[in-house]
Amino acid sequence: MTYYFKGFPQSDQNKSLKMIYVDELEERAKEVMPEPAYYYIASGSENEWTWRNNTAAFNHFQIIPRSLTDMDDPQTETEFLGKKLKTPIMISPIACHGISHKDGEVATALGAKEAGAMFSSSTYANRSVEDIAEAAGDAPRLFQLYLSKDWDFNQMVFDAVKAAGYQGIMLTVDALVSGYREANLRTKFTYPVPLDFFTRYQGGQGEGQSVAQMYAASAQKIGPDDLKKIKERSGLPVLVKGILCAEDAQMAIDAGADGIVISNHGGREIDGAPATIDMLPEIAKVVDHRVPIIFDSGVRRGSHVFKALALGADLVGIGRPYLYGLALGGSKGVASVINQLNDELKIDMQLTGCKTIEDVKHAMITNLPYSSDNLPSSTDPTVKPPYPVTDHNQMKASYVTGTDGEEPAPQVAEPVDTEGGASH
Ligand SMILES: Cc1cc2nc3c(=O)[nH]c(=O)nc-3n(C[C@H](O)[C@H](O)[C@H](O)COP(=O)(O)O)c2cc1C
Repeated sequence: MTYYFKGFPQSDQNKSLKMIYVDELEERAKEVMPEPAYYYIASGSENEWTWRNNTAAFNHFQIIPRSLTDMDDPQTETEFLGKKLKTPIMISPIACHGISHKDGEVATALGAKEAGAMFSSSTYANRSVEDIAEAAGDAPRLFQLYLSKDWDFNQMVFDAVKAAGYQGIMLTVDALVSGYREANLRTKFTYPVPLDFFTRYQGGQGEGQSVAQMYAASAQKIGPDDLKKIKERSGLPVLVKGILCAEDAQMAIDAGADGIVISNHGGREIDGAPATIDMLPEIAKVVDHRVPIIFDSGVRRGSHVFKALALGADLVGIGRPYLYGLALGGSKGVASVINQLNDELKIDMQLTGCKTIEDVKHAMITNLPYSSDNLPSSTDPTVKPPYPVTDHNQMKASYVTGTDGEEPAPQVAEPVDTEGGASH
């Protein structure tokens, strides 16, 4: 089923998704999304080296299993900025959810609420912070800020965000201009659905803007004084998003940051920047628990979440995977993605004797010198295409029930539902 906004096709699905692992949703979403929209989401900048390495570099760290731990039933509850969460996995801020689903950020926020995860909305959201607040009630949420050159506009945003019950602001500092994203140039991508704050600012229609136009409206020059000003004028905690070295983390804390977000924007800004997981340990060392750390970029497995928590993160954000879940299953699809990763995380918690997320933060991680850089990563989507589920490659019940030497009675394998049906 499809809904059209001024001729642009939007998904109107709302169903739980079955999956073996979250990255397989990318292929499935590609089949149903308009190409420019899919490529806007899926691509990174330039040669996409950073984008690829974000996921592959998790192999640089290994989890030490623990035995005789006398523990079962791991629990993933945690807390952030005074809000209780069912999972340390969070929804990273992403522009224009309307290209994935007709209900845009409202559907994503409802999916996050269902899964008990922290939600965050982008300055370039289609849906207003008021719509999101009305739909999601008191569910925990953060607002991502692209600072504008116009401080009257910034004040209007702060007031709206605070009134809509957001717990804090994530000030993005790694995307002062857009990275060189060739896919958008090839598809001539423009935002097909109006972006609420942009529309309010311009007093007109927000659709039809290119990515470069959007960035031009925001400030290219951001320093420590801006951070102080945002804190003062918004009256909200401010986290700095897009930190990739210990020096910047220290500067942000000196300027009064209430938290930092270690991110390289999912490999969409500087191509050639290191994978976030490789920078996490030294940044966490400098931060030294003075402020909380959110981590994102390249997370596709529960084991990635585990490693990030064990190396110093407090919350672990996901980006593209939930947008594919949104396109395929609306709010329920978003919840399915979070639940899948959370279930995988629980497996690792059981196998390491970690009863709580606090235990995961003290789990044993090593980085033995495997030549993992020369090996294909098991999670690198360019190396490992999703294993297709077809009628022909399923284990048949007759393998198990057939008697030696006899022709087993024909049986139909139970189909694996790749389209829908509750998985959680
Ligand atoms: C399509 C797309 C749009 C994004 N828009 C924003 C944005 O508006 N603001 C922001 O701070 N980060 C934005 N990001 C970056 C995400 O917040 C996050 O850092 C990144 O997606 C994490 O990497 P992952 O997609 O590999 O999980 C965007 C990412 C994607 C894929």
